[in-house]
Amino acid sequence: MMNTRSLRFRITAWYAGLLAGTLLVFGASVYLGLERYLDWNLQRTLAGECRAIGTQLLSQLPDKDVTWLTREITEAYAPEVNGLFIRVVHQEGEVLYLSGAPKDGTFDPRRIPFPRDKEMDGSRKLQFESGNRLLINSITVTTAAGTRFIVESGAPYHQIEVVLHGLLLTLAIYMPFVVSLAVAGGYWLMRRSLQPVDEITKRAEGITSTNLSERLPVIRSGDELERLSMSLNRMIERLDNAFEQINRFSADASHELRTPLTILQLELEGIAQNHRRDAALGDQIGSALEETHRMSRIVESLLTISRLDAGEVKMEKSRLDLGELAASTAGEMKLLAEERSIGLRIRAENGVHVLGDRVRLQQIIVNLVDNSIKYTQVGGMIEVRVDREGNSAILIVSDNGLGIPAHALPHVFERFYRADKARSRATGGAGLGLSIVKAICAAHNGEIKVSSQEGRGSSFRVELPLSPLFVNDRPSVVLREV
Ligand SMILES: Nc1ncnc2c1ncn2[C@@H]1O[C@H](COP(=O)(O)OP(=O)(O)OP(=O)(O)O)[C@@H](O)[C@H]1O
Ligand SMILES: [Mg+2]
Repeated sequence: MMNTRSLRFRITAWYAGLLAGTLLVFGASVYLGLERYLDWNLQRTLAGECRAIGTQLLSQLPDKDVTWLTREITEAYAPEVNGLFIRVVHQEGEVLYLSGAPKDGTFDPRRIPFPRDKEMDGSRKLQFESGNRLLINSITVTTAAGTRFIVESGAPYHQIEVVLHGLLLTLAIYMPFVVSLAVAGGYWLMRRSLQPVDEITKRAEGITSTNLSERLPVIRSGDELERLSMSLNRMIERLDNAFEQINRFSADASHELRTPLTILQLELEGIAQNHRRDAALGDQIGSALEETHRMSRIVESLLTISRLDAGEVKMEKSRLDLGELAASTAGEMKLLAEERSIGLRIRAENGVHVLGDRVRLQQIIVNLVDNSIKYTQVGGMIEVRVDREGNSAILIVSDNGLGIPAHALPHVFERFYRADKARSRATGGAGLGLSIVKAICAAHNGEIKVSSQEGRGSSFRVELPLSPLFVNDRPSVVLREV
């Protein structure tokens, strides 16, 4: 879950960064390109004006006078109104025409210096204290009569700046808007396309060796996700088959061992009968019989576990009072505990009903109490408790015995696992009791947990779903309604 969420955030962040970067580069190039274009365009216009004044007006000068020139320029360009700067200077330095101050007062034409030699026939930029800038183009014009004039035409940069500022403002407003829109859309798309991954993850988390028959949802999208879910399902199927084979093998092996073991036992018992008077042989056969009994128990346990795991056991499920079952079962084991001077206390809540197989649930209690008796020192104490917690029935078997070392705790439910091999062997355990308990719990949709401290004691807690109300339980409610 967490991973797909962070993947979603990561990809969206990358996407947002890339998009913002691209837009920024795009905006900057548009801005710079437009600035250069407007600059070039203004220069061209100004040069055109200068040339027009030179060819159309100055060429007629010896015939026409300065007043005519002034009127013509004012009429054609209206510099004061348009905020333009125009100046015509005679080769001898006399200013023939100078435009008036523009209406908006951005510059004072009288204070504009004459172009230096290197600034002739080109453009220059002037900056005023007010911050306004003026672009001035100047050319030299030589009339047919051989007189030279300097014609200058200028316009404030201000107009270009207004356009550029407008563009900047538009970009500044729209870019974050476009980026957030794209990010929100991208995030939504990502979430939609990654949702199946969340689902697959959730389902895959729930698949264990006990429910390998389940499959992951297949997303019919025809893309990588469909292929992934299908190949995961094929993998689960292979695991399922492998597990089934292992289970089948244990079940078959234990089943096959049953008959020869029974025959062996019968044979041994027969020999013991025939040689009743030979004490030494009787002892030997007795211990051989003991071992075959032990082997039978192991084989039976193995068969039970494999069948439970394979789901082959037909459960005779009925509604049971777990408290009553615990009390009667533990009561039967009281003698066993007393033999070792161990106290056995039972505290069961009334009316904790579960839906289960009586014999199997009894086996859970027997195995747990049997362990507690075996692994508690003389004079110890065992407690069996049945409670209700929410929708669950709780069975707790705790003792103040030897306890289980922390390193062994995660393994006690494994087949043939014994925390202390020497100790268990002396008490005759094979390490299968808890495996059976766990398999029965799983078959009842329950679970078992253990907590223990070495030297202090252990506590096994079984959680089973409470039985739903039966039809038989309803009449009282119906009667009340009537
Ligand atoms: N109440 C307990 N106190 C201390 N150790 C325990 C307790 N219950 C189980 N154990 C440890 O867990 C191991 C596994 O228990 P499990 O019941 O599966 O096997 P077992 O008792 O050795 O043999 P079996 O039950 O097959 O006769 C035991 O060998 C023991 O070391
Ligand atoms: Mg046991």
